[in-house]
Amino acid sequence: MSKTTEANSRMQRPLSQVDPQISSLLRDEAERQATGLELIPSENLVSEAVLEAMGSIFTNKYAEGYPGKRYYGGCEFADKVEQLAIDRAKGLFGAEHANVQSHSGTQANVSVYMSTLQPGDIVLGMNLSHGGHLTHGHPLNFSGRMYKFIAYGVRQDNEQIDYDEIDRLAAEHKPKMIVAGASAYSRIIDFPRIAKAAKSVGALFFVDMAHIAGLVAADVHPKPCGAHAAAWSSAKPLSQRNSTNSLSLAFKAVRSSTPLQQKLSV
Ligand SMILES: Cc1ncc(COP(=O)(O)O)c(C=O)c1O
Repeated sequence: MSKTTEANSRMQRPLSQVDPQISSLLRDEAERQATGLELIPSENLVSEAVLEAMGSIFTNKYAEGYPGKRYYGGCEFADKVEQLAIDRAKGLFGAEHANVQSHSGTQANVSVYMSTLQPGDIVLGMNLSHGGHLTHGHPLNFSGRMYKFIAYGVRQDNEQIDYDEIDRLAAEHKPKMIVAGASAYSRIIDFPRIAKAAKSVGALFFVDMAHIAGLVAADVHPKPCGAHAAAWSSAKPLSQRNSTNSLSLAFKAVRSSTPLQQKLSV
């Protein structure tokens, strides 16, 4: 067999032959997922169709930039996939703009912060121990290190968001942005109320709708947006039967975060 034919045939071999150890671990994980009870809210079990789309030939493609405006050639099909995703996200959530390039909810939040804030800006976000998320200003997270986050929380008597506290903190600190959304909060958040607090001090209102995006898309949960929010992001699989990609949506043309952290995989 010539060297070229040998190399070509190596490219065609299945994972079980090329790397039996990894192949066996993939099988073990499939078995674990099929037989266990998964109760982790930020996980999901995707359909075969989503698995097929995610583990695809686009693994080989580099596609920095945006559809029609790439740094590389050969993006005609990547462009079509990304444009479809953008159009679908806009339609589904009623947004004017959508960026579908983030690989996770955290990255989507990075995009929103980077395109709207300057380091050191003051932001209100929900306390992690009251149900918020690390990316909403935890001191060990990039968000808490880059921006001056002031935490609001829930009331002790009814365990619901303390909207009066948000009003108070907004008036006192004049934040550049108020972040709403949570990892562990089982009530409907009063978005118009927080939007009003933001408006009263000229702050941007950003909703991280990670845990409710599926409900919003299905129209069974109030939309956090439209007149209310300037930007909203969503974490990957949460409630969307989706895989690890994520999105950020905007109603005002929020300046693009490209190329701050861009790396598209479709
Ligand atoms: C409110 C919220 N925002 C952002 C994220 C981050 O999402 P990801 O794990 O996709 O980075 C999560 C994850 O659980 C979340 O609950």
